[in-house]
Amino acid sequence: RSCRSRVEFERRDRSTPVDTPVGARTIAFARAHSNIALVKYWGKRDETLNIPAVGSISITLDALSTGTRVTFDPGLDANLRQDEFWLNGQLTQAHRVSGLLDLVRERAGLTMRAVVTSTNDFPTGAGLASSASGFAALALAASAAAGLTLSTRELSMLARRGSGSAARSIFGGYVEMHTGTREDGRDAFAEPLLDAAAWPLCVVVAITDHAAKTVSSTHGMAGSRASSPFYPAWVDTGEQDLAEMRAAIVGRDFPRLGELAERSCLKLHALMLTSRPPLIYWNAGTVAAMHTVRELRDSGIPAYFTIDAGPQVKALCDPGDAAVVALALAETPGVLETRTSALGRGAHLVAA
Ligand code: ADP
Ligand code: DP6
Ligand code: CO
Repeated sequence: RSCRSRVEFERRDRSTPVDTPVGARTIAFARAHSNIALVKYWGKRDETLNIPAVGSISITLDALSTGTRVTFDPGLDANLRQDEFWLNGQLTQAHRVSGLLDLVRERAGLTMRAVVTSTNDFPTGAGLASSASGFAALALAASAAAGLTLSTRELSMLARRGSGSAARSIFGGYVEMHTGTREDGRDAFAEPLLDAAAWPLCVVVAITDHAAKTVSSTHGMAGSRASSPFYPAWVDTGEQDLAEMRAAIVGRDFPRLGELAERSCLKLHALMLTSRPPLIYWNAGTVAAMHTVRELRDSGIPAYFTIDAGPQVKALCDPGDAAVVALALAETPGVLETRTSALGRGAHLVAA
């Protein structure tokens, strides 16, 4: 329930790059945190390079994270079609992971296959940005295990190839993702806007369903782009939302940040609802939790909601109000569980 930032504590973490050669076998372990967008990304301008059609601004969440170990192993058959991917203890389809590892192998001049073991400490594929923490952790662990030393900008672009939101999880605190204009995507990366400690905010996550969504973000946004009559308006109004959000962050203006976050969220869901087939990521608990946040605000507690591609509601609030916000959400019909999070740090290597 605590909303204390762990940033200070984590400075004492063992964050030395670990690159343990055992013969030619190399291992690295990385942790990355999930993030939630205050100004949302939905839609791509290039699907192959995974370049977003709109920029986005997010906050990195301390309480939700992924730990990933990558082992490049010469003992594995280089002719195997894919790498071995264990997600949350289960052998899993490795197509997307192998795609990212191929980019790393190409850069490092490696041909070895890898074993990847990853654990999310929160529900996977359920609208809590497991693809963000997952691919940020993978980009860092895989590049370190391959012996590459990449800048955070390079890492952000590498993580983007796995998932657009992952480009932002390379950094902690407040982060902006640029769509860029280049065809090769070399200017589509995330950058830190403000340190977590500079403006502590709290996020109470209300979980209304632990199951994975039926339509992934990747498929959903391709459908919106192809079919929603609102898609051109979504792209056209993105820059204005980003400019207003940057100003709210620079000015530490919480009501402005909150109102903008709700507006971007509702605009995203209008786009989803008007896609064909329609994307309805909400359930009854989602709507009830939105109303709880609005009632809290009416009673004088500044709290604002945001929702991603899933049924979970995230309430933004002051750390001092987190306990009362969490209690109100926990008592809301349809809310199964709440998780309270401070802002977190960027992706980092830990002892393998
Ligand atoms: P979410 O809302 O959780 O981000 P997405 O539909 O965007 O949902 O992405 C879910 C997909 O992300 C999963 O099907 C899987 O391919 C990938 N993913 C989730 N967690 C990890 C992880 N720890 N490592 C690698 N890939 C992951
Ligand atoms: C609604 O980053 O998961 O959470 O790039 O296809 O992997 P891919 O999509 P993803 O989409 C995130 C969508 C969102 C909004 C956001 O995080 O900005
Ligand atoms: Co995702």
